[in-house]
Amino acid sequence: MSKINLCPSMMCADFTKLDLEIQDLEQAGVDLLHMDIMDGNFVPNFALGLEDYISVNRLTHLPLDAHLMIENPIRHVKLFAEAGAQIIYIHPEADRFPLTTLEKIKDYGCKAGIAINPETSIEMVSELLPHIDGVIIMTVNPGFAGQRFIESMDKKIKQVCALRKENEFTFEIGLDGNISPQRIKKYKNIGINNFVLGTSAIFGKEQSYAEIVTELRNL
Ligand code: DX5
Ligand code: ZN
Repeated sequence: MSKINLCPSMMCADFTKLDLEIQDLEQAGVDLLHMDIMDGNFVPNFALGLEDYISVNRLTHLPLDAHLMIENPIRHVKLFAEAGAQIIYIHPEADRFPLTTLEKIKDYGCKAGIAINPETSIEMVSELLPHIDGVIIMTVNPGFAGQRFIESMDKKIKQVCALRKENEFTFEIGLDGNISPQRIKKYKNIGINNFVLGTSAIFGKEQSYAEIVTELRNL
């Protein structure tokens, strides 16, 4: 089994002490910082914007992704590519020509991925699968931390793993939304690569980030 990537969701971090938060996460040994960008339009909330993105990137050597929960991502992918994203995820539902956007992301030198909402079936995005480096399966409706895992997503998670295997696709698969230690334990064994850690796994706990990450590595 390949190593899993633990990806703290920075919208859940305490921005009043951002440098300390990042330092603690780095020392704990996380793999990538998950950056949720929300426009208050595609999703009913606002989260990190470009300035936050640039600040976080300045404060860390860790790679950053960009999970764009915004309408018409094609208009904005360049900004996040220039801000240093290693991989940019778009929601195909938010874009008229998602394949064009994915190609554009790659032209800017980034990896390109899609994030799929609970009500978006894998059949609806199947044409995109040969073109992506990563997929995030949303296991809650995007927009807010602290929601409940949608159990029926289990089928979709297994379906995407099977499709990847059958077609020998090389994209990574990530899960985002109410990802608890128990779920990491369950899904790392079926081939999930990336886990977004929010309030369910790492933020707002009694234990230190280092203790939590050690436990997650030893599941
Ligand atoms: C949105 C975010 C949230 C959240 C996940 O894309 O990534 O889903 O921070 O953390 P939980 O659900 O554990 O609070
Ligand atoms: Zn996210």
